[in-house]
Amino acid sequence: MEQNITPEIGASDMTEAARAAQPEGKKVFVKTYGCQMNVYDSQRMSDALAADGYQPTDKIEDADLVLLNTCHIREKAAEKVYSELGRIRQLKEERGRDGRETVVGVTGCVAQAEGREILRRAPVVDLVIGPQTYHRLPNVVQRARGGEKIVETEYAIEDKFEHLPAPRRSAVRSRGVTAFLTVQEGCDKFCTFCVVPYTRGSEVSRPVAQIVAEAERLAEAGVREVTLLGQNVNAWHGEGADGREWGLGELLFRLAEIPGLDRLRYTTSHPRDMDDALIAAHRDLANLMPYLHLPVQSGSDRILKAMNRKHTGDDYRRLIERIREARPDIAMSGDFIVGFPGETDADFADTMQLVRDVGYAQAFSFKYSPRPGTPGADLGSQVPENVKDERLQALQALLVEQQRAFAASLIGQTMDVLLEKPGRQPGQRVGRSPWLQPVIVDENAGEIGDIIRVRITEAGTNSLFSEPVS
Ligand code: 5AD
Ligand code: SF4
Repeated sequence: MEQNITPEIGASDMTEAARAAQPEGKKVFVKTYGCQMNVYDSQRMSDALAADGYQPTDKIEDADLVLLNTCHIREKAAEKVYSELGRIRQLKEERGRDGRETVVGVTGCVAQAEGREILRRAPVVDLVIGPQTYHRLPNVVQRARGGEKIVETEYAIEDKFEHLPAPRRSAVRSRGVTAFLTVQEGCDKFCTFCVVPYTRGSEVSRPVAQIVAEAERLAEAGVREVTLLGQNVNAWHGEGADGREWGLGELLFRLAEIPGLDRLRYTTSHPRDMDDALIAAHRDLANLMPYLHLPVQSGSDRILKAMNRKHTGDDYRRLIERIREARPDIAMSGDFIVGFPGETDADFADTMQLVRDVGYAQAFSFKYSPRPGTPGADLGSQVPENVKDERLQALQALLVEQQRAFAASLIGQTMDVLLEKPGRQPGQRVGRSPWLQPVIVDENAGEIGDIIRVRITEAGTNSLFSEPVS
């Protein structure tokens, strides 16, 4: 997947529109962990349940249905689910004393990976449903309300993308001017550290017509920026409108024609799937944003081989050179793992060198976490925890330095900013730079959804400050 994983999103998914549509309905609380695809899936689940009379709520104690949409990528992410289930057990008991029933469900990658084991470890759970079977969710919830314990993790490959309804226009409006759109799911790469090929299954691409229809619907509802999602998004392929086989590059050219979609992004990509058409899209499409999340994981050829990445550090360097030739202002982002089994000081030094050579605007780095069932977990030469800690600290210090330097280089520059939401301080709005940084502007500079021209005046730790230019 190489998704751009935030440690935990942890927000309940609630839409004003869905709440207003079902004033008397039952209530559902959805907590999302992990990557953007889980955020997208949580929204689709909320939409599907709204049609069945479930109002979204952000108060777990009010919920008749609690769903934890989970992440299995590292041990910590998976364990968080079980501690949350402990708290939910108490809540369910309290509500039960008041005569209120609570159905508890686990969805997402922990559901897919652990299945029935979840019911054994956490009897509070009523339903377990994997990412490929979400279309059965309304029916499963109904059965669980009747007292059944249900595990739904078996699926036919054709089921993918059949599962959930297109986003409702009213729900989209309440979610703002940026949106995710899943175009591809699953992974066939089998990096030896990664659970994704097991939890999200093999690669499946969503058909062009479905993607275009959803993108048009988003644009009509006022969305101005769409991020295409896939665990291996640049492996997307499909039959184009011209009858030819398209890759992600061709798809982006098509989506760029949709009126109102001023900004396109995609995540997450694998270096081996960056083809010429995709690089050309970066060269030719003004609305494809100059930011690329392209994880390399390690800078050591020996470790890259052990990880089954099927490329070297120099292959990656050359690729970045070609991308920068096509789009000189592109900002690079990546993911790194330190402490993969067998990683020596020299291997780690190669990672540090690659980071220095490439220069990242942003990056995510993790300590290797052995995942049951993956080949890496069975390797004998696991790296001690204290060594992983030291390497992570050193790498993160370098990455933060690069991130700050990149932000500082923008001071004095003018750029377009998409205004997304009110700022934390009164009188402010927050927008996004083309390079994904939050930019603070004065609220009189424009309305939410406007793209305005600003000059950067100051670079803070996580955001840029700006003044409008006419
Ligand atoms: N341990 C640590 N990090 C991992 N990632 C994936 N699997 C593991 C693991 N077992 C990281 C990779 C990937 C990102 C989403 O999570 O860097 O790109
Ligand atoms: Fe990404 Fe590799 Fe995991 Fe596939 S197996 S999702 S390419 S890290």
